[in-house]
Amino acid sequence: MRGIVVKGIVFIGGGRITSAMIAGLRLANFNQPVVVHDRNPKKLQRLKRQYGVVVAADLRHAVRSARLLMIAVRPDSVAGLLEEIQSYDIPKQLFTVSLAAGIPLSKLRKGLGTPVRWARAMPSPVCRGGRGLTALTFSREFPSTARAEVRKLFALVGQVLEIPEKRFDAFTVTFSSSHGYHALATLIAAAKAVGLDGKVARVAAAHALADGIAAWRDGGVPLDELLQEAATPGGTAAAVMAAMDVAGYREMVERGLRAGVRRARRNARHLSFPAVCQDCASSIRGV
Ligand SMILES: NC(=O)c1ccc[n+]([C@@H]2O[C@H](COP(=O)([O-])OP(=O)(O)OC[C@H]3O[C@@H](n4cnc5c(N)ncnc54)[C@H](OP(=O)(O)O)[C@@H]3O)[C@@H](O)[C@H]2O)c1
Repeated sequence: MRGIVVKGIVFIGGGRITSAMIAGLRLANFNQPVVVHDRNPKKLQRLKRQYGVVVAADLRHAVRSARLLMIAVRPDSVAGLLEEIQSYDIPKQLFTVSLAAGIPLSKLRKGLGTPVRWARAMPSPVCRGGRGLTALTFSREFPSTARAEVRKLFALVGQVLEIPEKRFDAFTVTFSSSHGYHALATLIAAAKAVGLDGKVARVAAAHALADGIAAWRDGGVPLDELLQEAATPGGTAAAVMAAMDVAGYREMVERGLRAGVRRARRNARHLSFPAVCQDCASSIRGV
């Protein structure tokens, strides 16, 4: 196959999101080599055993063999990692995709003093089962053929949206599958408090959240209409919603999202890289 996946993909960081992505890729019969580097040998061995990845114990080797490098470490580890990578002989045609929440392309560019092309991706761990959703944004210098390959890769594990970078933090705090799990756990706990046993509470709460929303997504009926259908005026569902609204349900959700956005911005603010050398800086401008 032509393009960036020919040499295989290299993940730096073999944690939660890497594991979910590779599971999704394997499910989609993606049979290209996938290389993973992580500082925890046990995580690498597990990924090798489960998904047949190529383990790179050495970061330098991992980077050297990469054409598409996925930065999948936590945001507070990104600066140190890029500093280490910067000291290596980096391949000329390196396309780098950062999964790190909150860290903007402008900072990532400063992190590697070579003509590395950067993109950001925000994938969901639900990609494990092929039902993911990934937001992508590319730096200007990322070539169109490589963009197409990156889109294609993430499309193997779910839906892909390309959005402007300035919307990335808002997207990140909105699309997280944690919302669904959090709502589910909260509804189950409340259902038990009003008298259901655990098993029935789980079935009822999962139906309330998952089946209703799947029907909305697949059926094309506007949300307003479905809300009216499910809540008879003066009935029990209407009473539940009204009480939740009075208690500040919407404000609480918005407050939660704002806290997430603040956290993402803090990830960016607390990140500083050493100055890039002049030669490297001019080659970045030249690409
Ligand atoms: N989890 C998600 O659903 C999700 C979704 C979208 C984006 N993301 C982003 O993806 C990134 C990873 O998230 P995660 O949840 O997968 O984190 P994680 O489970 O903690 O995985 C990160 C892995 O990278 C390792 N690591 C850190 N620095 C390293 C270094 N310099 N060299 C080698 N290995 C290193 C960590 O080792 P230690 O454990 O020893 O630190 C850990 O095994 C984050 O930036 C996050 O914002 C996550």
